[in-house]
Amino acid sequence: MKVLVTGGAGFIGSGFLNLSVPRYPQHQFLNIDKLTYAANPANLLGIASAPNYAFERVDIEDSVAVQEVFVRHVPELVVHFAAESHVDRSIQAPRAFIRSNIEGTFNLLEAAREVWIGPGNRRFHHVSTDEVYGSLGESGLFTEATAYDPSSPYSASKAASDHLVRAYHRTFGIPITISNCSNNYGPRQFPEKLIPLMLLNALERKPLPVYGRGLNVRDWLYVDDHCEAIWAVIERGRVGETYNVGGHNEIRNIDVVERLCHLVAEETNTPLAELMQLITYVTDRPGHDLRYAIDSSKLSRECGWSARETFDSGLRKTVRWYLENQAWVDQVRTGEYRNWIDVNYEGRGSAS
Ligand code: NAD
Ligand code: TYD
Repeated sequence: MKVLVTGGAGFIGSGFLNLSVPRYPQHQFLNIDKLTYAANPANLLGIASAPNYAFERVDIEDSVAVQEVFVRHVPELVVHFAAESHVDRSIQAPRAFIRSNIEGTFNLLEAAREVWIGPGNRRFHHVSTDEVYGSLGESGLFTEATAYDPSSPYSASKAASDHLVRAYHRTFGIPITISNCSNNYGPRQFPEKLIPLMLLNALERKPLPVYGRGLNVRDWLYVDDHCEAIWAVIERGRVGETYNVGGHNEIRNIDVVERLCHLVAEETNTPLAELMQLITYVTDRPGHDLRYAIDSSKLSRECGWSARETFDSGLRKTVRWYLENQAWVDQVRTGEYRNWIDVNYEGRGSAS
């Protein structure tokens, strides 16, 4: 099967490819990625030379380039990760979110519509977020029937893309599935998101900036569990359906940060108090959703998925990964990998 993965050089996309390329040697994977600041070719070193993997630098905002990829490769499965993904950036500069997340998804759907003609076993799987549902109060869970009510430009752009994907199924018969997943954490996450930001700051003894009073709740899922859920939906999900993915790991931000301090103290032989005193409460994020929590029973029931990692085991793995991959951290921190991209990918032709 020919698999087109978008955004495969980012955090979750690279997790998906690192897991999938060796596991499915019979599938041919093509990764298209714009290589924004959030992408890192070092995320893919383990599979870069695999015979069933190829990379092309493509911006999904470019409708002609996207169409050309579809015409040349005629993918049977599209797994669409590519997106601007950080809420704080969407507050500072929302335009890129509209372009990549909404127009980019539209371009992919249009290309699929043009190329997927006649009978064939095809799927467009759209990777989305639970943030489309807005905020929960103190109780309750998001189900697939929860009304969309996004709070940030990021979540609004993902909500719009979900609607487009569903509309292309209903109107044009494109065989789609959507997964709406809670907050991911794990290796290779860009250190703008809560867990890697706090972890790296703690290692450098920099302040740990907790928004508001740290009482917002997220439902944390280890990235590999999310990737397995995506395969479960692709292989066993029903066409046209949406599946929520979550970890049953509802934790307040302040508790996440404190657990991280404990783990870093243990793993690096540092006095705990030295790390805990770095916790700093800062001005809250505008439009900050209070609580996310996912009911993933539809996914478990229909697709047989369940999370393997507990928050404690996943967080320890994550801390160890960052400690053992200092070169990755240094590259990301210094922006050196941006130079690497310019030298290695600029002007490079397509891999066919
Ligand atoms: P990320 O920011 O780490 O990576 C995004 C990737 O998409 C990067 O490689 C980037 O270069 C690429 N990209 C961005 N704009 C592009 C464009 N115009 N054309 C081509 N490539 C482009 O993001 P992530 O955390 O890996 O998230 C991946 C997907 O999963 C996103 O769609 C996100 O909405 C969704 N998601 C993320 C989380 C999470 O906790 N991180 C949770 C649920 C869903
Ligand atoms: P984040 O990792 O940005 O994910 P999302 O906003 O998509 O849930 O943030 C997770 C939680 O951590 C969220 O409630 C905001 C909070 N947070 C902080 O308190 N401080 C920070 O510096 C960041 C980046 C996030």
